[in-house]
Amino acid sequence: MKKGRPLTVEEALKLTRGQMIEAHKQYGNGGLVSVMGLLNFDKQFVRAQGMRIWDDAGNEYLDFLGGYGSVNLGHNPPEIDAALEKVKELPNFVQASLQTMAGALVQTLAAIAPGDLQRSFLCNSGAEAVEGALKLARAATGKKKLIYCEGGFHGKTMGALSVTGRDKYKQPFEPLVPECVAIPYADADALEDELKKGDAAGFIVEPIQGEGGVNVPPNGYLQKVREICSRYGTLLILDEIQTGMGRTGKMFACEHEDVVPDILVISKSFGGGVVPFGAFITTDAIWNTAYGGTQKCLLHTSTFGGNTRAATAALAAIQSALEQDLPGKAASQGRYFMEKLMDLHRRHSVIREVRGRGLLIGVEFEELKEGALDKLTGGAIGRLSNEYFASLVAGELQNRYRIITAYTLNNPNVIRLEPPLIVGKEEIDRVVEALDEILNRNKSLLGLTMSTARNFLGGLLEKRKG
Ligand SMILES: Cc1ncc(COP(=O)(O)O)c(C=O)c1O
Repeated sequence: MKKGRPLTVEEALKLTRGQMIEAHKQYGNGGLVSVMGLLNFDKQFVRAQGMRIWDDAGNEYLDFLGGYGSVNLGHNPPEIDAALEKVKELPNFVQASLQTMAGALVQTLAAIAPGDLQRSFLCNSGAEAVEGALKLARAATGKKKLIYCEGGFHGKTMGALSVTGRDKYKQPFEPLVPECVAIPYADADALEDELKKGDAAGFIVEPIQGEGGVNVPPNGYLQKVREICSRYGTLLILDEIQTGMGRTGKMFACEHEDVVPDILVISKSFGGGVVPFGAFITTDAIWNTAYGGTQKCLLHTSTFGGNTRAATAALAAIQSALEQDLPGKAASQGRYFMEKLMDLHRRHSVIREVRGRGLLIGVEFEELKEGALDKLTGGAIGRLSNEYFASLVAGELQNRYRIITAYTLNNPNVIRLEPPLIVGKEEIDRVVEALDEILNRNKSLLGLTMSTARNFLGGLLEKRKG
């Protein structure tokens, strides 16, 4: 057993890349260190501002991953730091009293949320906000069943995982929360068949599936879902943790279809990319049924929910997004990006599909025939590339072109392009040109896999030598 010794902040700031990796390897998630190392993703990043990140060797990277949608305002937005400076002498939380900044924030959320959504519960992460939404649905309806979509992603705590549509993440933790039922995504008929049974408390769904591979449902799907949930007395829970805060070209993606859910769940960029934060927002009537009055107001709580610094960062983030019209920027830059990517799609057959809305975009690649690479590499790359093929391309983008992207969690064949909403056209051009070059160099899928794999195998060998 290794124990190390406590480090000071000053010492932490001076850790070398090797020491940083070793600390994770010995005291954190060792398996993740190996995966990052294989793909050459284990850089030591030392500075970030706006669209850019710098590593310890002074190399500059463009961030097209945007913290999985958490840094819509860009990295280290100065307006958030300035707001935090203003409250640094306020108590961060005094459990026995109501909080000023949290009060201002829940009022602000009511003002920007669609329709009659009015009451918010503040918490600390996406999964925690989803937990709260699921509990609220049960408490408000008195029903038990929770319906969710295959390929959906809502987080990895017990409740959120129970409604997440990927078995690989669920299986080791079973039994999960009972009475959770999966249906296909974008299939309103399948939903109606379940709802007809009359026992569903809530239906949780993403307006666009983010981790599922940036899956955009057909126009009209959300409206249909809204209509049938109302008809059968089931609460519609929209998870806008990834699509919210301007990402898809509106403040909330449900606004594209004029749909108002019963419960709206947000997180990620809600904290301005600086503090962890989450919330669910619901109507006055639903809140009061579940938690109204002195007897029920403590049924659902969270120690850090609405602490002064988090609430201040969120207020400043909302103000900045509105002032800069980030939803409008996401819409116009997203259209530009999509046009360029569609052109790549027409010219490169390894791209199966390009899809998305605003600046939530996925590029899906064709799948390799089973075993094609196994034969060539004795198994090693074949196994890896089936699971991580898009990350081979992401690795090439990062290591050769210094552009950060990643694959989607539930569909590793899709690269996600999710830059901060402040991205410029020249930066978009750089990504498109880099992808074009990678695909031009490797006309066939096998060639592409071999060369990108060679790149990271090269990285591996270099590390072994070092
Ligand atoms: C749509 C959606 N819901 C929930 C979550 C979980 O959020 P967290 O990782 O903060 O728990 C995510 C995270 O990627 C997400 O994309």
